[in-house]
Amino acid sequence: MENKDIVLSGIRPTGNLHLGNYFGAVKNFLKMQETHECYFFIADYHSLTTHPHPANLQGNARQIFIEYLAAGLDPEKATLYLQSDIPEIAELYLFLNMNAYLGELERVPTFKEKARKSPDNVNAGLLTYPTLMAADIIIQKATKVPVGKDQEQHLEMTRTYARRFNTMYEVDFFPIPTAYNFGNELVKIPGLDGSGKMGKSEGEGNAIFLNEEEKSIRKKVMRAVSDSGPTEPNQEKSLPVQNLFTLLKVVSKPDVVQYFEDQYNNCSIRYGDLKKQLAEDIVAFTKPFGERIKELSSNDEYLRKVMNLGAEKARANAQKTMREVREIIGFRKIY
Ligand code: TYM
Repeated sequence: MENKDIVLSGIRPTGNLHLGNYFGAVKNFLKMQETHECYFFIADYHSLTTHPHPANLQGNARQIFIEYLAAGLDPEKATLYLQSDIPEIAELYLFLNMNAYLGELERVPTFKEKARKSPDNVNAGLLTYPTLMAADIIIQKATKVPVGKDQEQHLEMTRTYARRFNTMYEVDFFPIPTAYNFGNELVKIPGLDGSGKMGKSEGEGNAIFLNEEEKSIRKKVMRAVSDSGPTEPNQEKSLPVQNLFTLLKVVSKPDVVQYFEDQYNNCSIRYGDLKKQLAEDIVAFTKPFGERIKELSSNDEYLRKVMNLGAEKARANAQKTMREVREIIGFRKIY
C-alpha cells in the first residue's frame, strides 16, 4: 500500500443508494481502495434506531452490499463487511458511552432534527448514535473517513471521544480520525425538491437511486423545482436552480455545464432543456449500475463468500483492539 493511513466508512441499510451517497461517499471509496488499506461496511446496528422489521433487516443489508459491489468496490482491495458481524463494536460503544455526556449528545444537529421529526421515537440509540459511529471508526484505528458533508459533526464527535479515551487513560492509543475528501470541502448533493440535501427519507421525488428505472429518473428530473427564470444578466441563482446546476456538474461534461451557465447568464435559458439534458446524463450514469445490480442479485454464493471474507478480517482487527482496550481500562484477568 502506498499510504499508511487506514480508511473506513459506512452506509446505513435504510434504502437503496442514491446519487448523494455515491458522490458524497462511494466515489471516494473507489479511489481510496486503490491506494489505502480500506474498511467499508454496512451500518446495520445503526439502522435499528428506526426499528426495521426482523424480516427486512438482512435483505436491506444484502441490497446495500450488492450496490457496493455494483458500484465497483472490490473485495480483493478493500475489506467489506456487515457491522453486526463485529460484536466487538458494541462492546467499545458501551465503553465510550461511559464518557459521553448528555449535554453534548443532545446538541448534535442530526439528533435534534430526528427528535423533531419523530418525537415519539427519541430512543437512547438515537442519542448515542455518535458514540456507535466513533466505535466503528476507532476500533479499526482508522484515520481517514470519506463521508459527505452531513457527517462532519459526527466526525468531530469521534475525534472528541478518541481524544477523551487517550487522555483519560493517559495513553496514545487511538489515532484521531478526520472526515476526508482529498483536501476539499466535503460534498453535499442537493435533492430535486428545491431545498436541502438529497436523502433517502426526504420525501417522494427528492432522491435519484442508482438502481432507478430510466422512466422514473426522467419523470423526477422533469418535475424538479426551479424558478421563473433570470430577469437580469448574471443574476444570482435561486437555491432550486443552484441545485440543478450542482447536479449537472457531477454527472455532465464541463462544456455542457458551461453551455447552460452561459444561457443562464444571458437570460436565454429554458429550464426544460436543462432538465432534459440532466435526465439524459443521469440515465447514462446510472445505467451500468442497474445492470450489475441485476447480475449480482442472483449470485448468493458469491455474496456470502465476500461477506465472510470481510467479516473475518475486520473482526480479527477489532478483537485485537478490544483486547488492548480491556487491558487499558483495567479489566485484567486475575484468575
Ligand atoms: P448514511 O447512510 O446517511 O449516508 C452514507 C454516506 O452518504 C453520504 N451522503 C451524502 N453525501 C453528499 N450529499 C448527500 N445528499 C448525501 N447523503 C448521504 C453520507 O455523508 C455518508 O458518507 N452515520 C452514517 C453511517 C455510518 C458511518 C460510520 C460513516 C455509521 N458509522 C462510520 C462513516 C464512519 C450514515 O448514516 O450515513
